[in-house]
Amino acid sequence: MSDAAQAPAGPPGQPQKAPPGGTPPKAAPGGARITAVTSGKGGVGKTFVTANLAAALARRGERVLVLDADLGLANLDVVLNLYSRVTLHDVFTGRTPLEDAILPAPGGFSVLLAGSGLIEYSRMTPEVRDKLLEVITKVRPRYDHVLLDTGAGISDVVLFTISLADEVLIVATPEPTSLADAYATVKVLAATQAARPMRLLVNQTERMGEGRTVRAQLQQVVDRFVNAGLPRPVKLDHIGDVPQDKAVRETVQRRLLLLESLPGCAAAQALVAAANKLLD
Ligand SMILES: Nc1ncnc2c1ncn2[C@@H]1O[C@H](COP(=O)(O)OP(=O)(O)O)[C@@H](O)[C@H]1O
Ligand SMILES: [Mg+2]
Repeated sequence: MSDAAQAPAGPPGQPQKAPPGGTPPKAAPGGARITAVTSGKGGVGKTFVTANLAAALARRGERVLVLDADLGLANLDVVLNLYSRVTLHDVFTGRTPLEDAILPAPGGFSVLLAGSGLIEYSRMTPEVRDKLLEVITKVRPRYDHVLLDTGAGISDVVLFTISLADEVLIVATPEPTSLADAYATVKVLAATQAARPMRLLVNQTERMGEGRTVRAQLQQVVDRFVNAGLPRPVKLDHIGDVPQDKAVRETVQRRLLLLESLPGCAAAQALVAAANKLLD
């Protein structure tokens, strides 16, 4: 049993069953699809988006694990109002078996929390690399989806985490600073890592169609400065826009999942639609 003090009822560490009457979880022959959620710039809404996409996928009957891969600056626990004395750090040091560190989250998915303020995870060492790989290898067969909530930027920790994923989901806002940083991430990934599907979710949009413009702007610079000469050019697959909404800030402050507290609001519905696109 884990040390989770506020974890909701349910078997920790067990992938969820499909809800009664829901679609049974499909077998994952090659194991879970691993999606790295990243952004370039920090504070754009990665953790909020990851947690709510996980809840939307879980509602579809998918067995979902969110791994707080923002090693050292973890805050998934804050967004989900979970407290655990056991974190990825204890798994890495061998103090706790992996199963005991996986907790059930309010949205019907599982989480593996990282410790925060741990200086040893601010740079990638061969040991951290091996441990992270070991954790991913162990969880992959047990879930349909693993979402990696990465840190911002293009540090070696972030880049290594992304390299473990089958696809990359870039979260950007329409702000020029966010776009510039999203571009930097795409550029570095294209130059240093294997080509994989790269998706884009535009968060905090102010008006209809803004995400499409953002995607077009980003794709244009990618075509011009990244894709020239690439055997497999990067095509950003736009999976949706989440509007800027005061309710989001409020639910984050109250530490609730938007999909649970305000499932009918436009931002929640946009996240459900984006999760559906991830399943396409
Ligand atoms: N669609 C949105 N509308 C309004 N506020 C948002 C939205 N998305 C995110 N936020 C705000 O941005 C803050 C940062 O989000 P977070 O997920 O922690 O970012 P990141 O993980 O990228 O650093 C949240 O606390 C929330 O208040
Ligand atoms: Mg975050």
